[in-house]
Amino acid sequence: MELHNDWYKRMSFYQIWVRSFADGNGDGIGDLYGVYDKLEYIKSLGVDGIWFSPLYPSPNADYGYDISDYRDIHPEYGTLEQFQKVLHKAHEMGLKVIMDLVVNHTSDEHPWFLESRKGRDNPYSDYYIWRDKPNNWDSLFEGKAWEYDKVRGQYYLHIFAKKQPDLNMDNPKVREEVKGIMRFWLDMGVDGFREDVINFISKKEGLPNGLPFLPAVNGMPYYKDGPHIHEYMAEFRAVCMEYDCFQIGEGPMTTVQSAMKYLTGPTKSLDMMFSFDHMMADCIYTEYVHRPFSLIKLKKAFSRWQYALAGKGWNSLYLENHDHPRIISRYGSTHYWRESGTMLAASFIFQQGTPFIYQGQEIGMTNIRLHSIDDYVDVSTKNNYHTYHLKDTIERRLKRIHLSSRDSSRTPVQWDSSPYAGFSKVQPWFYVNPNYRKINVAAEEKDPDSILNFYRKCLALRKSSKTLIYGAYKEYFPKDPNIYMYERSYGEVRYLIICSFARLPVKVRIPQNYVGKKGQLMLSNYPDGPQVMADSLRKRAHQEVNMLAAEHGMFRPYEVRVYRFRERAREK
Ligand code: GLC
Ligand code: CA
Repeated sequence: MELHNDWYKRMSFYQIWVRSFADGNGDGIGDLYGVYDKLEYIKSLGVDGIWFSPLYPSPNADYGYDISDYRDIHPEYGTLEQFQKVLHKAHEMGLKVIMDLVVNHTSDEHPWFLESRKGRDNPYSDYYIWRDKPNNWDSLFEGKAWEYDKVRGQYYLHIFAKKQPDLNMDNPKVREEVKGIMRFWLDMGVDGFREDVINFISKKEGLPNGLPFLPAVNGMPYYKDGPHIHEYMAEFRAVCMEYDCFQIGEGPMTTVQSAMKYLTGPTKSLDMMFSFDHMMADCIYTEYVHRPFSLIKLKKAFSRWQYALAGKGWNSLYLENHDHPRIISRYGSTHYWRESGTMLAASFIFQQGTPFIYQGQEIGMTNIRLHSIDDYVDVSTKNNYHTYHLKDTIERRLKRIHLSSRDSSRTPVQWDSSPYAGFSKVQPWFYVNPNYRKINVAAEEKDPDSILNFYRKCLALRKSSKTLIYGAYKEYFPKDPNIYMYERSYGEVRYLIICSFARLPVKVRIPQNYVGKKGQLMLSNYPDGPQVMADSLRKRAHQEVNMLAAEHGMFRPYEVRVYRFRERAREK
């Protein structure tokens, strides 16, 4: 099914994990009052929409991804009325709003679960997956995937934390509930959904044992892209088609091949998918096993998705969200903080797809380092520490957590250099990264060369150009271990984006078909180099730069340049 409207292709999104975004009512917890006050700031980035991580009532075992009421707002974040105020103002400002739809599981404090555990003759009995005997699946977040419930006298399945029992999507009543929830928010005016771990919702009949030697993910072959997934997805798609809404699914461990079934052809049920391939250039299964960053792995993942979806589907583009440590601390360098933060922005925003920017990414926030595992709050971080890293020394375990914890992306946003980083007037619910005196919005607003202003330039440039939105993607020199170089082309216009991931100056080769061509330098991240400001783009006051000029053959650490070429008519 094709949406008649493809507005989402021209857009970019800002993701809000509200608890750490901005505290508007002075209790140390981010909320919708804070969001309301920051809407102008969000708009000023040049984005066109907001994705809200869950705002619903939740016991917070997994910070909102364990929902106890799908049709309300968590009292810590505000009220339904306040949400509507935010929605209304966002719409007035031309910002779309999408909600997180978490329906693989609920909280164990959701009334459905409280009923379901009462017994087999309860009307909610089959809302969850109950068994007398567990299989051998591991949970991704907490020990084994089965928990014994004394009240019911059976085990329930939880692929994530114990407090996140999996819903039984094979039950038609559960699917009706999901559709009801979708309609509730669509009727209120939201513009779409980000669908949490949506490729996990259909489980293989009989729940067979998984391979014993695959820790954590042993059950995955039986719950990823399960037997009825596309039927269920079609039902949800039909609801969205009644509205002009769009759907992006989170697809942990999805492959391009299986993603294509969601994104194209007769089983098309999503407009985009969040894949994880490119988030594994320094680890295996985010958080579990670390390895040194490999640019080759990153480029392969980027290009695999770009080429596979070309002309068929549409990519989502991201480097950060609430589930991954900060990208400068991973793929960049905190030493070359500004250079790598800006280069990383251009490395993904100009690919074909819709960019998503996570709160704090636009100012280059970095990982936090805490001194004891007890200081971390994320359930999966604690699980990794206590389960998978057991053989290491405490020191090494903490180092691994520092590299991998989701908590690094969940520290309060650094707004200014006042106490608590201007996030709140009181002690915030979680640690503020001590680097907030240097890394904060206020300081970067003032600096034309800041990471913040570079994000603005990238988003403005992308929006100004059909080529950068719709153009074909092509990668050059895929085996180069230092440089990621890609082209976007449309009609007679081509863009060449050259990103150095090296800490030392490196020589850059020019692709054969560019030799002797003159390009205009549209963006670069070294202030002393020729640079064009976003607002002057429209004036077309570009500096002409010959790509072959000797001084442009060397790239400085983490340097990035974006060139634009236009074929002369007679060359066609
Ligand atoms: C998704 C969410 C993550 C959550 C998990 C379980 O991966 O992004 O934050 O913990 O699903 O809901
Ligand atoms: Ca608050």
